[in-house]
Amino acid sequence: MPAIQIKPGIYWIGVNDRTTDLFEGVWPITQEGVSYNSYLVVGEKIALIDLAAAHHAASFIEQVRAMVDPSKIDYVVLNHMEPDHTGAATLVRQLAPSATFLVSAKAEPMLAAYFGITGGVRVVSDGETLDLGGVTLQFHMIPFVHWPETMATWVPEHNVLFSCDAFGGYGALPGRVFDDQCQDILWYEREALRYYSNIVARFSTQVLRAIDKLKPLTIEVVAPSHGLVWRRDPGRIIALYAAWARLASEPAEPGVTLLYGSMYGNTERMMNAVAEGVAKAQVPLEIFDVARTHSSYFLPSLWTRSGVLVGAPTYEVSLFPPMAQAMTNVVHKRIANRQAAYFGSYGWSKGALKELQSILEPLKWTWHETLEFNGAPTGDTLRQGERFGEAFARSLLAGGDKS
Ligand code: FEO
Repeated sequence: MPAIQIKPGIYWIGVNDRTTDLFEGVWPITQEGVSYNSYLVVGEKIALIDLAAAHHAASFIEQVRAMVDPSKIDYVVLNHMEPDHTGAATLVRQLAPSATFLVSAKAEPMLAAYFGITGGVRVVSDGETLDLGGVTLQFHMIPFVHWPETMATWVPEHNVLFSCDAFGGYGALPGRVFDDQCQDILWYEREALRYYSNIVARFSTQVLRAIDKLKPLTIEVVAPSHGLVWRRDPGRIIALYAAWARLASEPAEPGVTLLYGSMYGNTERMMNAVAEGVAKAQVPLEIFDVARTHSSYFLPSLWTRSGVLVGAPTYEVSLFPPMAQAMTNVVHKRIANRQAAYFGSYGWSKGALKELQSILEPLKWTWHETLEFNGAPTGDTLRQGERFGEAFARSLLAGGDKS
């Protein structure tokens, strides 16, 4: 997409990435894509704000060249060192040899470690301003949103906040960059939640701290480094991020994420009975087969719903391996204080529940009644499963009292 003016002298010059399969080498974006938003701020001096990933460096430089001769760039602001934003740094250093790279104190050694860039670098401090001549940049440290060195850059003349990962989301940009031009804003909000739960959730305390810290700034435009640029309703994405961050410590909405896996269909049959019970209680329910669904897609449900039903068979005296892997990811994202219950089939020995609870021990989940059955479920055990699902769901409506 060509450059797009955000405010007088401020331009989006990012690139869409529709070819990377796994963001960070982990999270699927094959269908959704992602954008690396970069911005140009033009006063008497010229500043480039954040870059792009290395494999998109060539198209990124084309974007820059369409606006300005790279050798005329005076400053390159690197709000965050993760290589999805800095992969083009080596090329930019070559093409803009006299530019000063502006980074936080913690980013300086990272710039050397990742790219060997040590010359022409200046550390900026929290609250420091830089006069570009007619327009000003002000730097605000927001550590751990997403890495410890991260900062945001604000333009007081136009109230634009370049927030980098904060307030970002997956999803390549659909020929437009602004929230008010987007035909399916709910899709981008869902992708922002998926991004939040995948990338940022672990740092929710720091997200709330950052939002608090940035509160005194007037913000007319939130210009993150991934996803939509929010100018019609910048408060919307900030409020969403604040609500998601609070879920790290406050109760989530009553609702059930049902994660299951099944070897020969026995646990799956029970899953259907349990789901019927949950539906009877009219509690929101999302179901995921963990052997076939990347955790990227069920983390948003786990993050926002209070209850987790885990259905998995015992496998060689331990937990069905795809479920064990899924639960390890859940622990990594620190999805704490959920109400949970287990059901599943076993053959010659139990063992799944023990391993499940051992993996999840750091999260301090509250465990409700368990439903284990030998071999295939009978009509009676299926009816028991329905009652099990309904009782669990009703307990969520009652605030999580154990069923
Ligand atoms: Fe978009 Fe943490 O990098």
